Amino acid sequence: MSAASRARASDVADGPGHLLAMSDLGRAEIEELLSLTDTMVEVNSRPIPKVPALRGRTMVSLFYEDSTRTRLSFETAARRLSADTMSFSVSASSVNKGESVRDTVETIEAMGIDAIVVRHKSSGVPEQIARWSTAAVINAGDGWHQHPTQALLDSYTIRSHLGSLEGRHIAIVGDIKHSRVARSNIEAFTTLGAEVTLVAPPTLLPPSLEPWPVKVSHDLDAVLPSLDVCYLLRMQQERMTEALVPTLREYSSQFELTEKRADRMAPGALIMHPGPMNRGVEIAGAVADRANAVMTEQVANGVAVRMAVLFMLLGSGRYPMRGFPTEDAEPADEPAAQRPDRSVRPDPEDNAAPENNAAPEHNEAKDPR
Ligand code: CP
Repeated sequence: MSAASRARASDVADGPGHLLAMSDLGRAEIEELLSLTDTMVEVNSRPIPKVPALRGRTMVSLFYEDSTRTRLSFETAARRLSADTMSFSVSASSVNKGESVRDTVETIEAMGIDAIVVRHKSSGVPEQIARWSTAAVINAGDGWHQHPTQALLDSYTIRSHLGSLEGRHIAIVGDIKHSRVARSNIEAFTTLGAEVTLVAPPTLLPPSLEPWPVKVSHDLDAVLPSLDVCYLLRMQQERMTEALVPTLREYSSQFELTEKRADRMAPGALIMHPGPMNRGVEIAGAVADRANAVMTEQVANGVAVRMAVLFMLLGSGRYPMRGFPTEDAEPADEPAAQRPDRSVRPDPEDNAAPENNAAPEHNEAKDPR
């Protein structure tokens, strides 16, 4: 993260930077992370997709809510950067004996960790943990609030297909009201210059849209032909405390991306979904399997984006990522006893000599390319 974003993100606690919301990042910071993701994609394409950039660092995933994609991709990302990982599962933890979030965080921190990746059903929990913790905190989804790494991986996926988001027309379709993905993506897409239209029945929109630079439509059929990206959201029935649509069948009749509707999209337009999908509710099964439906690419890019985020927060992200040695090369880092104290993260504006992590001058001689 750049100096500006790191300073903003660090307001909640002295020491490490955090990634709590898309508002932590300006356009330059987002583009910096997307460029770094290009490098991570290259690392992931190697026969041995592993580099020693975060050797000696430990990331814990603290998930109070279910996840498949986010949790696995953060853990994969950490391992590909040679960080150690710890995984916390509520169902097998002392949370079931009444342990509080704060006591849980303090317990985990006592084991020596550098980053906490947290998902919680309540908005604001990652920010609260960042106030208590000396580790870097990454929000992996909090209530309806934010899911910043989802927005980064979605932006990366669009950029990889369309070159840029500038001037692109993106519709976010469905349950906007309960969606942290929508909130993060609106910020990311508009910051990167896209025109965003929210498409939903009035009951699935938040009461106020005032802060968002978006258009609104209740008519998917009218919007479809002008789109570069149709981004579908899951109907989040677990977050609905009232009946906001008469029936799912009625919702699908107007808002499901059926085969007939998908046929009306422009050639080259993308179909996206954060997952998990409800096939037959917001997207037809056959549409989800089309070539321009890029959900598995989103997942693959999620690993690379999360590698970039971890490296920015825990590694010496100030330095170009070229020159990573492969995992079987001689480690560039010094013995643990001689390592600099990383409990205080370097100021990104400080031009002091780089730490060991992936500094090109340490590694260029070992670069096998
Ligand atoms: N997109 C997403 O957050 O998926 P998971 O709930 O599986 O992590």
